[in-house]
Amino acid sequence: MPLIAPSLLAADFLHLEAVCKMVDESDADWFHLDVMDGRFVPNISFGIPIIEHIRKESKKIFDVHLMIEEPEKLTPAFKKAGADILIVHLETCRNLHSNIQQIRALGMKPAVAINPHTPVDSLKDILADLYHVLVMSVNPGFGGQSFIPHSLEKVREMKKMIQKTGKDILIEVDGGITLENAPALVEAGADILVAGSSIFQSKDPKETIRLMKRIA
Ligand code: DX5
Ligand code: ZN
Repeated sequence: MPLIAPSLLAADFLHLEAVCKMVDESDADWFHLDVMDGRFVPNISFGIPIIEHIRKESKKIFDVHLMIEEPEKLTPAFKKAGADILIVHLETCRNLHSNIQQIRALGMKPAVAINPHTPVDSLKDILADLYHVLVMSVNPGFGGQSFIPHSLEKVREMKKMIQKTGKDILIEVDGGITLENAPALVEAGADILVAGSSIFQSKDPKETIRLMKRIA
């Protein structure tokens, strides 16, 4: 059974209170929050004040995905806003190991995301320090894109690499995930599924979350 992390990016921003209530009442495990800076990715989403506000309305684990440059400058502020897990991108961190230590020292769980073009084995020497890894299955920056099929192979490869460490490091996949392609991802080794459009644009988001959660 995968963990399900609905992505706020696809939700109705005019009704954040209702969105939080739906997610909290659903079978979702985490709440995935996409922060974009218009520099690392060609889009701007939302930031610290929004996370602070929804923290008051949601008891779910906050899985904060930082698509920003120099994330280390804002790490303490995201902790203060209510992040439980902080994901930074390999492509933006020049001193990744120290960034990961900083996240841990602040009491959050650290994760690293890799873009579609980044090889899985570039995480080899940092893997043992992570709570989870995030395999991007679209180019970061926008919701509603199509799943890149090669991501499936990357999840398989990541699973093998993690098994070699003998540690329990989780694999999260993010981008273009639907009820149709999710079973293959879980079979390949994905532990956490992030889904925005396929949940929030469905007729019954709570039911979509329930069905996604039940994938064996
Ligand atoms: C993309 C974000 C994703 C996005 C997923 O940059 O990291 O979390 O919200 O949205 P869907 O599920 O619509 O691809
Ligand atoms: Zn994301």
